[in-house]
Amino acid sequence: MRKAIALFASARRNGNTGKLIDWIADDLDMPIINLSEKVISPYDYDHKNINDDFISVMNQLLDYEIIIFVTPVYWYGPSAQMKIFIDRTSDFLDVDELKDIGRKLRNKTAYIACTSISDDADNSFLNSLKNTFEYLGMKYGGYVHANCENGYNPTEYKDEVNKFVRSINEAKIV
Ligand SMILES: Cc1cc2nc3c(=O)[nH]c(=O)nc-3n(C[C@H](O)[C@H](O)[C@H](O)COP(=O)(O)O)c2cc1C
Repeated sequence: MRKAIALFASARRNGNTGKLIDWIADDLDMPIINLSEKVISPYDYDHKNINDDFISVMNQLLDYEIIIFVTPVYWYGPSAQMKIFIDRTSDFLDVDELKDIGRKLRNKTAYIACTSISDDADNSFLNSLKNTFEYLGMKYGGYVHANCENGYNPTEYKDEVNKFVRSINEAKIV
């Protein structure tokens, strides 16, 4: 089982959130999945979208103990791409053949890496993700946030990012 992977979802690859995760991924020598490059359609009660990229992305994530959910704060929540991905985890709850995949998420550890133009990540944003992790049976490891109100200034986040990277490096995985 490999250690950590980033699930990245921003409206632009090389924007603030992209730069933040490139830095973290470099330090952790970790792969990044860019959800914008995948074809994942919104949740469908009839599961007519079951053959899109959702299951293959999920199978990639399941090879790792730690999943970092990477998204900007857009309107007090995650990006649309991330929200669609999270909605699709409902497939595991209601498609019998997929229930085993869903169970494999349990006991993995979820972290959040995010940017916004506020001093800190909005609580409604953090809570919606944390509650989702809890519902899925995932442990929550923590978050790192970069305030990009005045643009992306890595020196401002250096201590926070180093702490975040250290906590993942030191995380005990079972
Ligand atoms: C559609 C949209 C909604 C946003 N909503 C918020 C918000 O609710 N709170 C906030 O602090 N910043 C908000 N922002 C600012 C972004 O979070 C910030 O610029 C972020 O660093 C953008 O990351 P990106 O370059 O990866 O898109 C919003 C930006 C956009 C484009």
